[in-house]
Amino acid sequence: MRQVFLIVFGVIFGVSVVALLFTYFQAQQERFALSADMQYRTRLLADSLNESIEPARQRNATSTLEKIATSFAGRERLLGVVIYDRQGNVIVKSKDVPEDVDVAKRIVEDAIKKDEPVGDFLVVDTMQLYVLAHPVHREEGPAGAFIVVQDASYIEESVAGQWRDSLLGVFIYILLFSVAIAALVRWVIFKPLTNLAEAIKSARAGRGRVSETQHGMFFRPLASEIGKLTHSLAQARTAASEEARMRLEKLDTPWTEERLKEFIKAYLKDRQIFVVSNREPYIHTRDGGEVAYSVPASGMVTALESVMAACGGTWIAHGSGSGDRETADQDGKIQVPPDDPKYMLKRIWLTGKEVKGYYTGFSNEALWPLCHIAHTRPAFRKEDWITYKRVNGLFAKTLLSELKGIERPLILVQDYHLALLPRMIKEARPDAQIGLFWHIPWPSAEAFSICPWRKEILDGMLGSDIIGFHTQQFCNNFIETVGKEVESLIDLEQFAITRDEHITRIKPFPISISFTDAMHEKEAEAPTRASLEALNITTEFVGLGVDRLDYTKGILERLRGVEFFLDAHPEYAHKFTFLQIAPISRGESETYQQFAQSVEKEVSRINTKFSARGGSAFGGKRNGWQPIVLQTRHFSHAELRPLYRLAHACLVTSLHDGMNLVAKEFVAARDDEAGVLILSKFTGASRDFDRGAIIVNPYSAEEVAESIHQALLMPKPEQHRRMKMMRNSIRDYNVYRWAAEFIKAVAALR
Ligand code: G6P
Repeated sequence: MRQVFLIVFGVIFGVSVVALLFTYFQAQQERFALSADMQYRTRLLADSLNESIEPARQRNATSTLEKIATSFAGRERLLGVVIYDRQGNVIVKSKDVPEDVDVAKRIVEDAIKKDEPVGDFLVVDTMQLYVLAHPVHREEGPAGAFIVVQDASYIEESVAGQWRDSLLGVFIYILLFSVAIAALVRWVIFKPLTNLAEAIKSARAGRGRVSETQHGMFFRPLASEIGKLTHSLAQARTAASEEARMRLEKLDTPWTEERLKEFIKAYLKDRQIFVVSNREPYIHTRDGGEVAYSVPASGMVTALESVMAACGGTWIAHGSGSGDRETADQDGKIQVPPDDPKYMLKRIWLTGKEVKGYYTGFSNEALWPLCHIAHTRPAFRKEDWITYKRVNGLFAKTLLSELKGIERPLILVQDYHLALLPRMIKEARPDAQIGLFWHIPWPSAEAFSICPWRKEILDGMLGSDIIGFHTQQFCNNFIETVGKEVESLIDLEQFAITRDEHITRIKPFPISISFTDAMHEKEAEAPTRASLEALNITTEFVGLGVDRLDYTKGILERLRGVEFFLDAHPEYAHKFTFLQIAPISRGESETYQQFAQSVEKEVSRINTKFSARGGSAFGGKRNGWQPIVLQTRHFSHAELRPLYRLAHACLVTSLHDGMNLVAKEFVAARDDEAGVLILSKFTGASRDFDRGAIIVNPYSAEEVAESIHQALLMPKPEQHRRMKMMRNSIRDYNVYRWAAEFIKAVAALR
């Protein structure tokens, strides 16, 4: 609509300028014509008056002159006459002539001097006058002069009237014109264009085609071409779908988005999928006048987003972005991905206090450190727990209202923020099939037993039909914890827990990434070093770390490993840079703030240490080399991909990690089958990559240092052998297969 206003405004402005210029010239002409007419008529009058005045002056007949002055007053615009003697003194004066007409004396003197009529326009007492002085003669010579005084204000009035009429005309014209243009642009251009865009969008999403006849005369040729294009797209889609259906039968072929779609169609028929998580897949942020969106750094989002893009459905999550409300409708709903909508995101609004208690407090300062063995003490605060329960209730209420009228809905609850949700839903909707996926580790029964509300948490989780973890070890820990904490029947053969006649199965589903996306990258050109140079990295060897700034990720341990490596192998000074990308995470928590400060301090300590050495031990060279480059801003997947492909080694040194998808993304990005993954033995991913990666204990700086050295020296064939193995493993078990297996397990239960 803004464009319509701009066009209308532009046209109106142009036309108004022309109309006003035109009126101006017309007014000038009118003024000139009226003035000339008045001068001409006054002159005629003066000449005829002179014929009566001169004889009377000859005779010195003042009474005759007075008669003349009286009879020539107050006629139409004629104000009267004034007769002067030779010295310029008034002899007689018509009564309507203003007293101040003395200003006309200059004209009288001029006329007497030149001995001819002289006229001029004057303003007397704000009155516009035209004064014409005419010399009077006697036989013996000049005998003074008389003036004829005309009221000339009608000239300006007439000009003003002309301006008024013209401005009124312009105004009416602008009004009509704006309405006409707005209607024209709106209905002939804007509306058909919006319809066309909508039709293209629907066609792209596989709902209908772009028809040539529905899009107005102007856009018919364009619609016709787009119609052909979308037709080809639909054909290609059908072919792909057919191919996927055929592949579905042969389970040895890789899982793709299409195959998952076909699987969901065939398996779930028309049943809808609901995903519920704390973190939303798309965050809209307002920055000044602009609203932009980003995909948050979250392993859970990375995995689930590809699944939802393939299956459609509804994803319910907390709307945490500053631009979230204005981009969603009044129900908090928005179709996403914003540029290519495939499913519905329903945002839940939480107050600052709720976020503090439920998210920062209980989820991240109690459950997160409780489940990760990273030696950070959990903080159990009663008020956080109360808020956690209340917010879980809020998620349940929202989900239940979405489930109205939907039979046997399939619900996939994500992560530790919503541990109580499954029970709440199951009680209200026993027909719902609920899968809970726990994206973080599950600790030993002993470690979990310190949580004051452990029984309620376990009971909440056991409302699910299936609980998925990344590894068998986490499943074992969970079964052991339940056995110790709540009354239930445990079937170790089926890995099932019966509580109050409800059965919950416990199963490992190691999560992964959408490897097919990365395969498409193969067509792209090999990355240049430009993305490294942009970060001031020019060294021959590059090590890379990509993590949220989280104390479980072993970033400090990794930095110490780099320091040990450079101490032990000074020949790599000025030749090796370690790039750590660590976007700020959970910045509201003091623990995370302190951790961020420690990382920055450590980076600066190590950089100072080696740059000081650069002056002596390295031949006095100071080429600005910094062994560690730390970036704390968010990098999109597209920005990360070239960095993954340029790094000689990727370091994942988590102290404890459910899976770690950075390790898998690095491997997926390496279609050149080069590069080395250094991986902590405490990640879920180390189960899949135990033979491809260099497995390290992140607590040992010497071991990390040695692994970097080994990686930089690793011969290419060895790199290929390892990388190939890892790539095969994620090609075979990507996120589509993960989703298919998890959904199948949930939906198969009675
Ligand atoms: C882990 C959790 C996710 C979470 C992510 C990012 O991967 O399993 O559920 O989204 O961390 O943390 P944040 O608190 O920013 O969502």
